[in-house]
Amino acid sequence: MGCVLNFVGLCLWVCLMSRSSIPVASQRSGGSGNVEEGSVFIDGRVAIGSTDDDFICATLDWWPPDKCDYGTCSWGRASLLNLDLSNKILLNAVKAFSPLKVRMGGTLQDKVIYQRTSDQNPCAQFVKNSSEMFGFSEGCLPMSRWDELNLFFREAGAVVIFGLNALSGRTIGLDGLAAGAWNSSDAESLIRYSANKGYTIHGWELGNELSGNGVGARVPADQYASDINTLQSMVQNIYAGFEVKPLVLGPGGLFDAIWYTEFIDKTLKSLQVVTHHIYNLGPGVDDHLIDKILDPSYLDGGSKPFQDLQSILQTSATSATAWVGEAGGAYNSGHNLVTNAFAFSFWYLDQLGMASSYGTKTYCRQTLIGGNYGLLNTTTFVPNPDYYSALLWHRLMGRNVLSTSFNGTKKIRTYAHCSKQSPGITLLLINLDGNTTVQVQVSTENAGNRTSTLQHKDKTQRSNFSRMRPVSKIDASMREEYHLTAKDGDLHSQTLLLNGKVVTINSSGIVPPLEPIRVSSMDPVIVAPFSIVFVRFPNINYPACK
Ligand SMILES: *[C@@H]1O[C@H](CO)[C@@H](O)[C@H](O)[C@H]1NC(C)=O
Ligand SMILES: *[C@@H]1O[C@H](CO)[C@@H](O)[C@H](O)[C@H]1NC(C)=O
Ligand SMILES: *[C@@H]1O[C@H](CO)[C@@H](O)[C@H](O)[C@H]1NC(C)=O
Ligand SMILES: *[C@@H]1O[C@H](CO)[C@@H](O)[C@H](O)[C@H]1NC(C)=O
Ligand SMILES: *[C@@H]1O[C@H](CO)[C@@H](O)[C@H](O)[C@H]1NC(C)=O
Ligand SMILES: *[C@@H]1O[C@H](CO)[C@@H](O)[C@H](O)[C@H]1NC(C)=O
Ligand SMILES: *[C@@H]1O[C@H](CO)[C@@H](O)[C@H](O)[C@H]1NC(C)=O
Ligand SMILES: *[C@@H]1O[C@H](CO)[C@@H](O)[C@H](O)[C@H]1NC(C)=O
Repeated sequence: MGCVLNFVGLCLWVCLMSRSSIPVASQRSGGSGNVEEGSVFIDGRVAIGSTDDDFICATLDWWPPDKCDYGTCSWGRASLLNLDLSNKILLNAVKAFSPLKVRMGGTLQDKVIYQRTSDQNPCAQFVKNSSEMFGFSEGCLPMSRWDELNLFFREAGAVVIFGLNALSGRTIGLDGLAAGAWNSSDAESLIRYSANKGYTIHGWELGNELSGNGVGARVPADQYASDINTLQSMVQNIYAGFEVKPLVLGPGGLFDAIWYTEFIDKTLKSLQVVTHHIYNLGPGVDDHLIDKILDPSYLDGGSKPFQDLQSILQTSATSATAWVGEAGGAYNSGHNLVTNAFAFSFWYLDQLGMASSYGTKTYCRQTLIGGNYGLLNTTTFVPNPDYYSALLWHRLMGRNVLSTSFNGTKKIRTYAHCSKQSPGITLLLINLDGNTTVQVQVSTENAGNRTSTLQHKDKTQRSNFSRMRPVSKIDASMREEYHLTAKDGDLHSQTLLLNGKVVTINSSGIVPPLEPIRVSSMDPVIVAPFSIVFVRFPNINYPACK
């Protein structure tokens, strides 16, 4: 990009910035709005982090159909034990990622026993029983079902993590304290069975929400660390002849700095991935979830566990990395028409952005299907808006994370990564404001030189949207934009619009190609009210992305 253009553009921009907010006529149905200017600055000198290539992960849980919260039963047949694995939408939805990470687990995982071929006892289902911990009896995973799951994951190209029962062999006191060491005998039989069958398991995770104060039961950090050592030795032993051995993960709990510090210090050689869960929006029954989701300072508060865990890992001798192993946002199964609607993409994509900027390698969304927070509709399997948000992230956001800062309204959130498998960078912009369109200027820093990459061509453009997409022959630098909005501007909608058009799977259950619009790099990025925009700049070459 030429210096003269840069200079002229910068001048124009400075002039324009002197009027920061001008009312314009309504662009979209439903109310008047303002237009504001803002600028995002991206530092391309060094990456501030790098994620796994397959950062996007989703969970499958154990909850049976009669799991209910606040009087509604939102799980249907979405359990690992009964999900319809022959559904073609499910297969296509997982395949579209190639690969999607899938973490199997959840509350009831610590009450699952694995059928043994030698065992003559029936492999019993979970039975609802309010006097039992978590409201259900123990349940059993039949090996025939385990086979089906593994065949499905293989066909769908998923990368799988399985959460093992960490309460085996312990006795649980009235105060929830689980006493005794982990009995690894059941886990060993499942792992041996899987290895013998040739099932590729990317990781074995020990336990679910038993760290810190626990949810229902808790295990002290030093005992848990010793159990992780047991699991790691077992994995080394069973997979002795394998070139690639599965990872050992844990503890899959809510972050607790003291507990995690001790646990990490005592698993220096045995733990590869430290996992934690995110439910920072509180109970799903809350009728004001949307207010939290749209509140920038509430969202900012969500960065605390990422930051704290990152600093524990940086000061420890461990080589373990951090993953979010389960994140549903709102606990007790989420909230229908919020955590499975367009509104939740604000929270979800913001979480992905924050997590990756604090060193998180993988982020597992609760759930792929099931509860009120599924990426897929529990009964129809049709993707909810967050499915497409996840897919766009997966396709556009590469491993290297870039630092961004936004000068302008607090309602705009910005994240940038090097592009995935293509040159350039991808910027994510989230507009939490329902009344304001924000025109975003993008500026960059490259080896110490600040350069404005975008310029207004002339001042008249900005008050006339129909002239904002000139196709100019001299403009070699086009960028690609994906604008996500809710159908009819309704944040509770489960229908997503991409660049103004409904995104839908067709009757063959094929995930549609998600096509961008091409825009001249001369123009500012127009971020509509309550919208999310991914912008891919193929022509920005940063040292951090080499
Ligand atoms: C429910 O669980 C309690 C405690 O384990 C047990 O005593 C009782 O028999 C169970 N009830 C049913 C119906 O299984
Ligand atoms: C662990 O569990 C197995 C199977 O349930 C049992 O046979 C074994 O005795 C247990 N081991 C210990 C040390 O309790
Ligand atoms: C699933 O989709 C159907 C049909 O669009 C809809 O009626 C239902 O509310 C959706 N279920 C959930 C849990 O979102
Ligand atoms: C932020 O934008 C304002 C104009 O709206 C400008 O005066 C200020 O210098 C900018 N700050 C930075 C750090 O770029
Ligand atoms: C937009 O602003 C109007 C007037 O201030 C307000 O009544 C309305 O609720 C706002 N809409 C949104 C979506 O924030
Ligand atoms: C920064 O820009 C100046 C002036 O355009 C140029 O002389 C200098 O070489 C640039 N520095 C780097 C590291 O690109
Ligand atoms: C906006 O631009 C289009 C195309 O150049 C033109 O036809 C239209 O009259 C303009 N509208 C306004 C309000 O200036
Ligand atoms: C569904 O979409 C795919 C890809 O876009 C296409 O190949 C297929 O023919 C479509 N099926 C139907 C029934 O429209």
